[in-house]
Amino acid sequence: MGELLIYGSYGYTGELIADEAVGRGLTPILAGRTERKVSRQAAELDCPGRTIDLADDDVTDALADVDVVLNCAGPFVDTYEPLVEACIDSETHYLDITGEIDVFQGVAGYDEAAAEAGVMLMSGVGFDVVPTDCLAAHLADRLPDATHLALGFEALTSLSGGTAKTAVEFLGEGGYVRRDGLLERVPPAHRTRRIDFGRGERTAATIPWGDLVTAYHTTGVPNIEVYAAMPEPVVWSMRGSGLLSPFLGCGPVKSTLKGLIDATVDGPSERQREQGRSYLWGEATTDDGERAVTLLETPETYALTVDTALETATRALDGDAPAGYQTPAGAYGPDLVLDVEGTERRDVE
Ligand SMILES: NC(=O)c1ccc[n+]([C@@H]2O[C@H](COP(=O)([O-])OP(=O)(O)OC[C@H]3O[C@@H](n4cnc5c(N)ncnc54)[C@H](OP(=O)(O)O)[C@@H]3O)[C@@H](O)[C@H]2O)c1
Repeated sequence: MGELLIYGSYGYTGELIADEAVGRGLTPILAGRTERKVSRQAAELDCPGRTIDLADDDVTDALADVDVVLNCAGPFVDTYEPLVEACIDSETHYLDITGEIDVFQGVAGYDEAAAEAGVMLMSGVGFDVVPTDCLAAHLADRLPDATHLALGFEALTSLSGGTAKTAVEFLGEGGYVRRDGLLERVPPAHRTRRIDFGRGERTAATIPWGDLVTAYHTTGVPNIEVYAAMPEPVVWSMRGSGLLSPFLGCGPVKSTLKGLIDATVDGPSERQREQGRSYLWGEATTDDGERAVTLLETPETYALTVDTALETATRALDGDAPAGYQTPAGAYGPDLVLDVEGTERRDVE
């Protein structure tokens, strides 16, 4: 097996992944931009450590002996470009756990260069987007003539600081849906639906989730919406935030909110990660009115992210890494998520 480098290995999610990798008998290279944090973690886990400043260092050189990079340093809009470019130059496979739609698009833009270099680029190997991408692929297999896909989730957990700060980074940007093959900007919480995720109906609203890029890439279905379950008041405040978008999008507001997050958000506890569950729903429809609906129940989002990130990284280390830009279900099929213990899939219509 080759060398795995985890970048951002000492952040909340990176640390969970690094600990589990070591628990599974891997010896990853632990990496990030802050020397003190890298060396503390490397000593604790008895793994090699590597400080890499993406702005100043020769990143290609730093990856010369690496076979797979797993990028856990988000917001990924700040980290993906230097790592993807260095991965292509050093013939290293690239994975990340982003949920940022701009990053999915950005990484997909390197498809040709990666294919030429024989390198796989796969974004979204965490909760966003492995389960929903697998649902999309499964539904497209069930209904090959589907013209519309709707995907949704209800995640019962709390957020880590990094996830909350990544959300703040995109405040004021509104939403997206995919229509006739094209990404279309829409207001926040543009549409709502009542969705039964398997536990009774919930209100859910559209969000700009990575599947708007990945599910299209995986299935070719031209119309896609992604919904998240949320209480009605959250829907109203999301809609209200559309009116405030120039204010929310400005630098001082974002840095104040990020400071607040640093002071108040810790991420889910071990108990929450062990006991939390996530409920996903997917619907495919055709122009002739045919419909297929599938439900998926998985472990808590961060617990699932650890598992799917390591599963995909291990496959890539084993050489199962098709060249070019890939989606999780596109490369590994709709059953990839079923490899995660505690995951169940049910076709309900
Ligand atoms: N796809 C999913 O389902 C999923 C699941 C979990 C998390 N995530 C995403 O993963 C990201 C990390 O979340 P987290 O909770 O682990 O965050 P966190 O605890 O704040 O950790 C962030 C990590 O990224 C590093 N980092 C941030 N900006 C950087 C930059 N410009 N250059 C180099 N390193 C940088 C930080 O290093 P320093 O400490 O040295 O600054 C730290 O190691 C977030 O964007 C989150 O949304 C996605």
